Amino acid sequence: MQLHLCAWPEVETYLKRSKGIVIPIGSTEQHGPNGLLGTDALCPEIIAREAGEEAGFLVGPTFNVGCAQHHLAFPGTITLRPSTMMAAMEDWIDSLVRHGFRQIYFLNGHGGNIGTIQATFAESYAPWSFDADPCPYTLKFRNWWELPGVMDVCKQLFPTGDGSHATASEVAVTYYGYPQAVKDVSMSPKIAPEGDFTDAADYRRNFPDGRIGSDPSQATPEKGAKIVAAAKKALIKEAQAFFGAKG
Ligand code: NI
Repeated sequence: MQLHLCAWPEVETYLKRSKGIVIPIGSTEQHGPNGLLGTDALCPEIIAREAGEEAGFLVGPTFNVGCAQHHLAFPGTITLRPSTMMAAMEDWIDSLVRHGFRQIYFLNGHGGNIGTIQATFAESYAPWSFDADPCPYTLKFRNWWELPGVMDVCKQLFPTGDGSHATASEVAVTYYGYPQAVKDVSMSPKIAPEGDFTDAADYRRNFPDGRIGSDPSQATPEKGAKIVAAAKKALIKEAQAFFGAKG
């Protein structure tokens, strides 16, 4: 079930059997010469959508712009400042809590969001922490590539050149979800360099085509299907345990 494809009475009925929801959260940012700008939002969305359909839990709209300042030297990247993202996330959470949702699970697709998501959770809990009353809701976040078993599949499929940005794995997941968007681009060098960066300009100087440590030309829809299958299985198990009920 996807929230944005439901009518409100369906959400009201859902809340009688479950108080849990999964929100895919990601970024709109450059992902190298063959990776989609939406990669970090699409990966958690594709995985959550399939898991929600199979297990019958609700999946919210994707929070699809995150903290991507360091990618701004590449056209198409859109970012939120951390403070903007926190304010928006808090409003999403408060809206869902108002309706009765009590377990909100953010499935994240972007490493650059992690610090801001954790800070948002602390802000959201703060009024309760300073008060004697316990917080009536629980927030959880998980990076999709850290779901149990997923990394094993990625390593098996891409023993070299998976990398750390514009990875072969994440590009494969998006190619599985959107085979019409597959791009045939030869990489030079074959595997991108590793290294550090400071701000957006420095990033583009150090990594001219946007990749870090990866060869995403290895990505195919078939490989993406294997990653999604493993992630879906793990997400269903984890979300159901978090929601405390089947469904
Ligand atoms: Ni990414």
